[in-house]
Amino acid sequence: MTPANAFAAGTTTLAALPLLLLTSSAAFTPTSQRLPYVRSYHGCAASHTTFPFKAIGYSTPHTGAHTLVGLARRSPSFNAVGRIMSTADVNAGETTTAEGGEELWWKAVVFEDAALPESVLKDFPILSTMVGAEGSEESEKKPLVYLDSAATSQKPTFVTDMLTDYYLKANSNVHRGAHALSREATGQYEAARDAIARFVNAFSRNEIVFTSGATEAINLVAYCYGRKNLKEGDVIITTELEHHSNLVPWQMIAEETGATLKVVPVSDEIGTPNWDAFRDMLDRSVKLVSIQHVSNVMGCVNPTADIVDAVRSKAHPDAKIMLDACQSVPHMTVDVQKLDCDFLAASGHKLCGPTGIGFLWGREELLNSMPPFMGGGEMIDEVYNDRSTYAKAPARFEAGTPAIAQAIGMGAAVDYLNGIGMDRIEKYEQELGAYLHRRMEEVPGVTVLGPPSGGEEGRAALVSFVCDKVHPSDLSTFLDMEGVAIRAGHHCCQPLHRALGYSHSARASLYFYNTKEDIDFFVEKLEETLKFFGNLAGGPDGEEGGDNFVPFI
Ligand SMILES: Cc1ncc(COP(=O)(O)O)c(C=O)c1O
Repeated sequence: MTPANAFAAGTTTLAALPLLLLTSSAAFTPTSQRLPYVRSYHGCAASHTTFPFKAIGYSTPHTGAHTLVGLARRSPSFNAVGRIMSTADVNAGETTTAEGGEELWWKAVVFEDAALPESVLKDFPILSTMVGAEGSEESEKKPLVYLDSAATSQKPTFVTDMLTDYYLKANSNVHRGAHALSREATGQYEAARDAIARFVNAFSRNEIVFTSGATEAINLVAYCYGRKNLKEGDVIITTELEHHSNLVPWQMIAEETGATLKVVPVSDEIGTPNWDAFRDMLDRSVKLVSIQHVSNVMGCVNPTADIVDAVRSKAHPDAKIMLDACQSVPHMTVDVQKLDCDFLAASGHKLCGPTGIGFLWGREELLNSMPPFMGGGEMIDEVYNDRSTYAKAPARFEAGTPAIAQAIGMGAAVDYLNGIGMDRIEKYEQELGAYLHRRMEEVPGVTVLGPPSGGEEGRAALVSFVCDKVHPSDLSTFLDMEGVAIRAGHHCCQPLHRALGYSHSARASLYFYNTKEDIDFFVEKLEETLKFFGNLAGGPDGEEGGDNFVPFI
């Protein structure tokens, strides 16, 4: 069947497909004219029936047109007339050996600390679960290979037990009651603050403000510090690589205060911020610099010591430096005293803790010089009908009933990480990340984003990439069918992707619980998927691709 009559052959159920397919891959910036895609759908409005299926075809990005080539229905009863499309169909029996019998370097690699992920596997039951693509049968499920820890990490039982224990044995409001449970809850909540303060080597426990996450922490500084201290003529500097949560708040506060926001562009060569351009931006008008410690897309570790030196010597004497440490705190020893910044934000859920919690570290005198973020209980000293006085930090910034269990869970998470040792985690991840990076660089048709590994500042254990022939969403859908969880999208970094000339990328991100086998399996499935799409795209115009692709409607 040719693409042209594919729709005509459809039943009433298939009649809704053109509508669905219009939402497909047209936004991607491809290098080729025709971009193959695979899309998972569940249900069809036209016939009011519900069934999961995959649509495979080409999109022509410039016109937005889509050509449906095949449908794969993921139901055993449908196999009689069709077949389930999977990468295994394409490469059954193939192994990843080099042509000509050449020795493959990566097969011989053994990580120095391979015992680390083995020793923690029992702590993460989720890593031993079976997963399936949307609508898949139990029998189709595959072992989970979780490569999305930069989005959120998995949680060890040490943390989940702590959460359960808290709710079962200590649940109460904090700082309020003189009863036993309240004392217990308050004790655990404040012990979590101590744990975080030690974890980042704060000067004082009062410097740790619990927030809902890094986003709230950055907004807190933008509003509380920015509103009071920024005005027209002042300059805020951030970079083009930032997560939206370290860009949009500064745009908003610049608009409100009249300050100017300057954005350090990404450098063309290696995809790190252009630090020369940054230095050129620095003068006495610069009042605030807010940058990532580690990029969630490019994986670069920013040279914070140089940045801090440059700001301290060239910017306004009162200029403040904020670090978005979301992607560093979970993976390496972060010492705010050594970093010599003024504010630092991180999220609990990326460091084995629960969602809904993170923290802001700020120098104590600075926090106490800032107005509160929100008004309400806990943040006050005295309240009258017409005015109030405020508590000192951290209570000043923790209005209302806080996320008590989540804070305790985040405290447990850092205890857990300390139990392993941050130096050990960092060392292992350096090896793991460099291995992933090198393997990815050798996959034909893949462009790896960001700097090379082995650089002076190091590289985080994550790799973002784009493929010549496959949209990142389609790739992740396909890998999902193999149990591999990666991230596809702009990763909350639209300006960065725009600067690089892509609308999206795919990202595999690692944590200390990942193994060499995880990476090998991912790369194997990636290669298979790319071959599959290569076949699909390979035929002359108007024909389906290689022999391995069997359309069936
Ligand atoms: C570098 C970076 N900054 C900020 C954030 C925002 O964190 P959250 O959504 O937990 O507030 C993220 C989350 O992905 C991130 O990677």
